Amino acid sequence: MTYVIAEPCVDLKDKACIEECPVDCIYEGERMLYIHPDECVDCGACEPVCPVEAIFYEDDTPEEWKDYYKANVEFFDELGSPGGASKLGLIERDHAVVAALPPQQHDE
Ligand code: F3S
Ligand code: F3S
Repeated sequence: MTYVIAEPCVDLKDKACIEECPVDCIYEGERMLYIHPDECVDCGACEPVCPVEAIFYEDDTPEEWKDYYKANVEFFDELGSPGGASKLGLIERDHAVVAALPPQQHDE
């Protein structure tokens, strides 16, 4: 089990979540951030601070965003387990589910 970032993060990337994560397992892609499923220790600290409620415990991810579990996991297929997001910085790509989305509008 792990936490998952879903569609509300796309094209927003507030990054409040990064500040809370004790293990630096939230990685920045081009259009959204991704939680490393093996590095996340399920502490839950990131979930309440996201201003657009993009973060869910895996089992609680809304049905319409179920694909984001796969997106968070598969984003790391090529990266493996880097052991820390800050040293990588921006990773200039996204999972196909995210890359295929039209630009997302955010009011704030
Ligand atoms: Fe995204 Fe929310 Fe974090 S918008 S970057 S999941 S605080
Ligand atoms: Fe995981 Fe979020 Fe904590 S990504 S380690 S639940 S801050």
